Amino acid sequence: MADVTASVLDALAASEGPILSTDAFPSIPSLTVKSALDRLASRSMVEYETIDREVVVLTEEGESIAANGSHEAKVFEAVAAAMEGLKISDLPNLVGKDVAKVGQGNAFKRGWIKKDKDVLRPNVDSIRDETREQLQAIKDTQTHPDSKVIADLKKRKLVTLQKAISFRIRKGPKFAREFVKEETDLTADMLASGAWKTVQLKPYNFRAKGAPAQSGALHPLNKVRQEFRSIFFEMGFEEMPTNRFVETGFWNFDALFVPQQHPARDLQDTFYIADPKTADPPRADPPNDPHLSRLASMPSSGGAPTQPKPVDFQEYWDNVRQVHETGKYGSIGYRYPWNPEEAKRLVLRTHTTSVSAYMLHKLAQDPRPARYFSIDRVFRNEAVDATHLAEFHQIEGVIADFGLALGGLIGFMEVFFGKMGIHKLRFKPAYNPYTEPSMEIFGYHDGLGKWVEIGNSGMFRSEMLEAMGLPPDMRVYGWGLSLERPTMIKYGVSNIRELLGHKVDLNFIETNPAVRLDKD
Ligand code: PHE
Repeated sequence: MADVTASVLDALAASEGPILSTDAFPSIPSLTVKSALDRLASRSMVEYETIDREVVVLTEEGESIAANGSHEAKVFEAVAAAMEGLKISDLPNLVGKDVAKVGQGNAFKRGWIKKDKDVLRPNVDSIRDETREQLQAIKDTQTHPDSKVIADLKKRKLVTLQKAISFRIRKGPKFAREFVKEETDLTADMLASGAWKTVQLKPYNFRAKGAPAQSGALHPLNKVRQEFRSIFFEMGFEEMPTNRFVETGFWNFDALFVPQQHPARDLQDTFYIADPKTADPPRADPPNDPHLSRLASMPSSGGAPTQPKPVDFQEYWDNVRQVHETGKYGSIGYRYPWNPEEAKRLVLRTHTTSVSAYMLHKLAQDPRPARYFSIDRVFRNEAVDATHLAEFHQIEGVIADFGLALGGLIGFMEVFFGKMGIHKLRFKPAYNPYTEPSMEIFGYHDGLGKWVEIGNSGMFRSEMLEAMGLPPDMRVYGWGLSLERPTMIKYGVSNIRELLGHKVDLNFIETNPAVRLDKD
């Protein structure tokens, strides 16, 4: 490469005007020439233009004719050499079967030989092997002045036409005999030594395409996550900010009307933070939270924007206490002494429903129909086995609107899971502290040939919604499912540890035959 740049500079220095690369460096591949020229051109040492032209190139057969003569010439020579005339049946033995076949016909056509019964005799004293001459000329010049000759040879498959690239190169404004090494970076050493005053710095190439980035691939979980995100966006959902892995018991449990004695709050089920153990009760958000301002700027579908009413957190806190202790909003509550310290305890969120609670409470400032979703990590203090990890991803959706009923949730689930290719659904009554009614969702998986549990859902209780200030006639659907489950089914993974953690085989998508389940 360095040598080619030097050759280019030498050739230009020796020449009056522009040079043509194919003349000056016929044996250097044009790509190599081009990269040398680009290097020189980026420093304005040369200028060049690219010339595409067609060249005529000999085929293997053409090469052999240029070297040894045409078939018809070989036939003529064989015939002329035989004093007594050459028996037709002997010709293939002398010149070969193929040469005899083609050459004999052509030699007759040209009047070079004649037939005397079954014997061939020369018809002329000498011949001129034009085909060979033409091919030899083409071999030297890669072209022929007579285009009919080229067309004819091409038809006979003795030559082919190929594209050739050459460059017309001239001196640039900064032409020099020597290729001066240019520095790509100004270094501390140069500053210290004073070399910066004299070094040649390479100008930045802002048109460089950059190194090809062909590495990397989405993890299967991220692929499936992407699919779910598109389904949600397509159905008009906004993504909730899920960047808080650590939550207070308040948002994770109390706001969701989960009683403080509920087994889910046990140490065996929930990871509690050791340091710090607690946080303050909820208070107003920092004014410039980028995630929240993005959601808040979404136009409300309920007409002209209304002035959001400020949240009274003390009131909310008291509502939660009352609804747990004595009941409120028509509910008789759980009737136990609610402990504010429990609500302040910090936990690794056990579900993203904590985020839904938080977002619904924000919505209460300006109640309007809304659709939110999130897909992020949750943590549960569970024994790890083939299908359980202490952390997984939860897909969560909520729909808030006036006058919603259970049938609408079932109908929505059919559309939502239908978009994932699951068309047969069954619903089973279930229990969640924060929804009533609640339903487990089962889907028939054609690939597996059985019913699988695919989610949990329900309508959020008024104990939760009214306490946060949502109007009594606003109803909210909620549902959740794990991201791991559909991913495992989709990719035929039976051990969750193959999907997450250090045992993941990065090639398993390619090697796993179950990927065929993809297409149903
Ligand atoms: N939080 C529930 C779970 O962890 C899912 C859910 C969300 C259910 C919203 C109902 C409503 O399984």
